[in-house]
Amino acid sequence: MAQYSLLNEETGDKTELPVKEGTVGPVGLDVGKVYAQQGVFTYDPGFTSTCSCDSAITYIDGDAGLLMYRGYPVDQLAQNSSFIEVAYLILNGELPNAQQLESFDQSIRRHTMINESLKRFFEGFHYDAHPMAMLTGVVGSLSAFYHDTTNNKDPHHREIFAHRMIAKIPTIAAAAYKRYFGQPFIYPQNHLDYSSNLLQMMFAVPAEPYHVDPVAAKALDVLFILHADHEQNASTSTVRLAGSTGCNPYAAIASGIAALWGPAHGGANEAVLRMLDEIGTVDNVKPFMEKVKNKESGVRLMGFGHRVYKNFDPRATIIREHCHKVLKHFGQENDPQMELALELERIALEDDYFRERKLYPNVDFYSGIIYKALGIPVNMFTPMFAIARAVGWVAHWNEMSSDASTRIGRPRQIYTGPAQRDYAAIDKR
Ligand code: ACO
Repeated sequence: MAQYSLLNEETGDKTELPVKEGTVGPVGLDVGKVYAQQGVFTYDPGFTSTCSCDSAITYIDGDAGLLMYRGYPVDQLAQNSSFIEVAYLILNGELPNAQQLESFDQSIRRHTMINESLKRFFEGFHYDAHPMAMLTGVVGSLSAFYHDTTNNKDPHHREIFAHRMIAKIPTIAAAAYKRYFGQPFIYPQNHLDYSSNLLQMMFAVPAEPYHVDPVAAKALDVLFILHADHEQNASTSTVRLAGSTGCNPYAAIASGIAALWGPAHGGANEAVLRMLDEIGTVDNVKPFMEKVKNKESGVRLMGFGHRVYKNFDPRATIIREHCHKVLKHFGQENDPQMELALELERIALEDDYFRERKLYPNVDFYSGIIYKALGIPVNMFTPMFAIARAVGWVAHWNEMSSDASTRIGRPRQIYTGPAQRDYAAIDKR
């Protein structure tokens, strides 16, 4: 193993940098002692070269286009597993046996209801509030309800929190949807599986029976598997940073939901559909691409590019295949937005601007087209992402909270403001 040391040429001080090794992937130089020994900081805005923690949950090889949860490639899980089984895997580290799966599934089903007074919170939102605003607020409000399980150091408390969070977030997201449409909230039906229950809570109305389409439920389940975790992305890092203070776990998850909302992160699925709407027809693709490439307008090809994937995003490849299946099932094979998306992808993959910068479709380029085919409105796309990612947030919060060496996350800065100066009386300014 190579040794790394840091030499301060001015003082001659030398600091040996311990090397941290994981199971696979690049090693990390432990720079934790650099400031104490040499009085200098390390500087990495955007954290392109910085590991913030050890984690045994998810691994990404951005060059190979590989994503694994607990060692299992995501394509194998999407092909063979269910979202609930994957949630168990992400939370517990191993695939469940039949009895463990049954017991976990039952526990999630039994925690789907929300307190009736929590339901009334929705009345306080303006009728056209964005569902992500409601989701952030109402998930944060869960912290005011479950005082019995907030000891972050107690594994039993952490487990109950995990089950409550994963079970209740679809109910809250569906309630946000119903609030937006002015329809009555629909209670969860615990005989339904996770994805079917969500569709039922969103689309059933009290006036008539509702039958869940199994193809729609399966498509949603696959999307949820693909979105369940993605190591130290912006929202997960936000959950960890908030959680490192020892704050209420529901409040930590609410901070992750807020971070996910941004168009550079989970909000991209909504931004892709709005972009496709704006482009309108295939004829407008070329001028749109010119606008993206000249950068003047600040327009980006939404759903393209990723901080880690520099070859392809394996989730996008799986979603594109599912997109075709779902559109066919709903008789929308000739969906104009799908045609437009395929044309944008084709042009981008042949274009030097995108090739040189290693920009490929990411998970959100095609997911919106599936959501739309399922009848889910555009402003509910990011809440769908949040439902799935809640599993990852909870698992990371849990991993961090159970690690005795966790310290409060507290980055430093390069200060660029005025040097020290003396206060001047108002008539002297
Ligand atoms: N369209 C056009 N140009 C792009 C795009 C894009 N979508 N993404 C990156 N670029 C260009 C940048 O302008 C930059 O060009 P330069 O080298 O000439 O300055 C270069 O590619 C590198 O881009 P950065 O912004 O430095 O890359 P970073 O890793 O910081 O950002 C990000 C990654 C935020 C995902 C970016 O690619 C982006 O904004 N994509 C569109 C939004 C999107 O789809 N986000 C979802 C990501 S997946 C997820 O979070 C679930």
